[in-house]
Amino acid sequence: MSAPGPLPVPAVPLRHGTGVEGLTIPQLGFGTYKIDDDDAQRAVSQALEVGYRHIDTAQMYGNEAGVGRALAASALPRDDLFITSKLNNPYHRRADALRTFDETMDRLGLDVLDLFLVHWPLAASEGIDLVETWETMGEILSTGRVRAVGVSNHQPAHLRRIIEATCLTPAVNQVELHPYLRQDELRALHAELGVVTESWSPLGRARLLDDPDLARLAADLGVTPAQVVIRWHLQHGLVVIPKTVHVERMRANADVFSFTLDARSMGLIDALDRGLRTGSHPDEVQV
Ligand SMILES: NC(=O)c1ccc[n+]([C@@H]2O[C@H](COP(=O)([O-])OP(=O)(O)OC[C@H]3O[C@@H](n4cnc5c(N)ncnc54)[C@H](OP(=O)(O)O)[C@@H]3O)[C@@H](O)[C@H]2O)c1
Repeated sequence: MSAPGPLPVPAVPLRHGTGVEGLTIPQLGFGTYKIDDDDAQRAVSQALEVGYRHIDTAQMYGNEAGVGRALAASALPRDDLFITSKLNNPYHRRADALRTFDETMDRLGLDVLDLFLVHWPLAASEGIDLVETWETMGEILSTGRVRAVGVSNHQPAHLRRIIEATCLTPAVNQVELHPYLRQDELRALHAELGVVTESWSPLGRARLLDDPDLARLAADLGVTPAQVVIRWHLQHGLVVIPKTVHVERMRANADVFSFTLDARSMGLIDALDRGLRTGSHPDEVQV
């Protein structure tokens, strides 16, 4: 397959606590959760060929090496790519975080990572201090080996606590977010703090694709339910990282820049919210 060139993906500015100027994140990226290491090279190479330039991985996914092989095999300039990884739950203490960040960089084969996130807050785990972990993320940022640091699954209280304690604002909070879980409170706080909201499981792990209202709307527009949902995220200004192992779905999920949802359609989708989580509640995840 030949590379068709980059997709017309908007660049979202990352306002970072250290005042890094000009850093942006592509608003549409490619998720890699549940793609095993053996398949990750194939899937990420195909995503890059389709035109994705933003790849989301994590220590927890066990596929950083496969992602790294795809990056090494690609002829794309490093500056065209945006790579995110995340600190795994057992490694929140300073020494573990520093050591496993090095391992992440080795597996990815990168000198500089674009974004490193604390995967889960682990606030319910005995002996784990959110602030110690966030201070270590600041230390990693100060080495220049990552362009921005952020968090994932952080609730309002977690965000306030780490910012007050360190004066370092996460560039991003990546949280479960889709039409069944709108996360209004977090999004309002992010807007106030200048934190970019990134939607994980943006398709509700495919559950939304069977929604009859979305199916009707998609049929009216001549697109698919997945395209409607991805478009909803984009029009709300959210960074969105759908995952698929199928190249035709990679193409379809990226083919979302030639139609728009009008205000009525956006309102209809907004009204689907039912507080439904497909993943864990952040307050319940422990080491
Ligand atoms: N920070 C966190 O704690 C966290 C948690 C979860 C996820 N994430 C990140 O967010 C990314 C996306 O979330 P997710 O993978 O959980 O779920 P998702 O992107 O909402 O949905 C993925 C599911 O939808 C299917 N799918 C994708 N496109 C489709 C299409 N066009 N038509 C029909 N089915 C389609 C996929 O199946 P096929 O693969 O078979 O096509 C897969 O079963 C992850 O990959 C990961 O990078 C982060």
